[in-house]
Amino acid sequence: MVCLGNICRSPLAEGILLAKVNSRGLDIKVDSAGTGGWHVGQGPDHRALAIANKYGIDISQQQARQFSSTDFEDFDIIYAMDDSNLSDIVSLANSNKDLEKVQLILNEINPEDNTPVPDPYYGGDDGFEKVYQLLDAACEIIIKKIS
Ligand code: 4NP
Repeated sequence: MVCLGNICRSPLAEGILLAKVNSRGLDIKVDSAGTGGWHVGQGPDHRALAIANKYGIDISQQQARQFSSTDFEDFDIIYAMDDSNLSDIVSLANSNKDLEKVQLILNEINPEDNTPVPDPYYGGDDGFEKVYQLLDAACEIIIKKIS
């Protein structure tokens, strides 16, 4: 799960998918990263923590890290939150196999629509509720496919 800062959208995406993985007793590695390095080592934004808590998900132990080309070796699927994240990830790919792993997460809901998960960083709390609902819907589809 990859966004820009790894403090708002992708930590929520990681927490939501991991909760679904754990509740089904699956053994799947889920992680998140940011394409930018400004927040490396920090925990999630307080608004992301709050919306996750509201839905019974604890993301407080997460620490931001920067996406790197080695992630292509470590993961089978790489979900970008928006087009900008997608092109930053693609620029680090080393092969067609790497490229095939990358997709926009909301295309799991509406394939080919290329709808972004809106960046809630500069907005209010309602932006985080919207992001949570979008990511929960996408992760529900993902977990059904993977299961
Ligand atoms: P995220 O949100 O990419 O969903 O984690 C942002 C977090 C920080 C910044 C931008 C977006 N920033 O500019 O610091």
